[in-house]
Amino acid sequence: MAGDPVRFGIIGCAGIARKLCRAIALAPNATLHALGSRSVAEAQSFAAVNGLPGSVRLYGSYGAVLDDPLVDAVYLPLPTSLRAAWAVAAARKGKHVLLEKPAAADAAELDRILEACGASGVQFMDGTMWLHHPRTAKMMEIVSDRGRFGELKWINSVSTFAPDQEFFEDNIRMKPDLDSLGALGDLGWYCIGAFLWAAGYELPSAVSALPDVTRNSAGAILSCSAVLYWGSAHETAATFHCSFLAHVSMDLAVVASNGSLHLKDFTIPIEEGSASFEFTPSAKFVDLHIGWSVKPEKVLVPTELPQEALMVREFASLVQGIRDSGCSPESKWPEISRKTQLVLDAVKKSIDGGCILVHL
Ligand SMILES: *[C@@H]1O[C@H](CO)[C@@H](O)[C@H](O)[C@H]1NC(C)=O
Ligand SMILES: *[C@@H]1O[C@H](CO)[C@@H](O)[C@H](O)[C@H]1NC(C)=O
Repeated sequence: MAGDPVRFGIIGCAGIARKLCRAIALAPNATLHALGSRSVAEAQSFAAVNGLPGSVRLYGSYGAVLDDPLVDAVYLPLPTSLRAAWAVAAARKGKHVLLEKPAAADAAELDRILEACGASGVQFMDGTMWLHHPRTAKMMEIVSDRGRFGELKWINSVSTFAPDQEFFEDNIRMKPDLDSLGALGDLGWYCIGAFLWAAGYELPSAVSALPDVTRNSAGAILSCSAVLYWGSAHETAATFHCSFLAHVSMDLAVVASNGSLHLKDFTIPIEEGSASFEFTPSAKFVDLHIGWSVKPEKVLVPTELPQEALMVREFASLVQGIRDSGCSPESKWPEISRKTQLVLDAVKKSIDGGCILVHL
């Protein structure tokens, strides 16, 4: 019925699915309807451990979720190598697709997903949560005010965390046959997305990986860095480092000609209820260069819901529009995913080519 919450089916019981179950429960216009795993026992165990309501249908296959006519939308946290096949299958069954990031192994694969979504008229969105935090919108007010902030000159971003030993032994990201992108796909995705966000989604003209790539014995990328350039004369640059080998760190610095913006927790805010950033407008050195004329201003942005619930709410509201009011899917979200994937592909190509400069 029109106005009914969007009924989600989750395909796969990855750790991140726990976070999305909670987000779906918190979002006012979404409800968890079904969960599919490789076996019913696995789905039952996930439901019990996470206290899912008894109304959630538990299926022993992924396909059964897609065959459930009541499922409006699916959330797909499957390994990267399985995402495309299931996302395409979901779209063909008319299910809206919320896909974990990295959205695909490469842009060609993502294009197959987006074509299937386009052909079925379903909404696509990738699972980048920080874009939905009100802090991100607040920062964009500053960054996009080029008259005041000035020309974008340099962006730096870091996305690292040090998982426990078990991760290095068992995690999918350690197995190039299940996930060809490793830390670049899992964490570099955020850094690249932040650059594109700050640059108004203008693609860089060229990218180059830096020669600090670390791989495990199977060849999975454990850590890497890259530089991106915009403009014919490379007037704007961005650098990032992503790693499973360094302490948790999520820095973002956006430096323009007349101001700068800094934060330390851009992908997962340190606290759930509010998040902050520092904005420094037009600082000069004081006499003798023993200080700055302007102190960074700490901007605190509260949020009524955690960012992942805001993501689900935004996605669900688009799905409601399509389902109940005949609206078209919002093209902004697949476009953002595609640009992120294109740049990620270029960084991967640079890494594989020995840090060559790759033009986009
Ligand atoms: C630089 O920023 C300051 C403070 O926001 C503003 O007053 C000034 O007009 C800006 N200057 C330029 C050239 O944009
Ligand atoms: C769904 O989410 C949108 C915001 O994204 C909100 O405006 C709308 O009221 C929500 N619908 C319900 C039923 O809560």
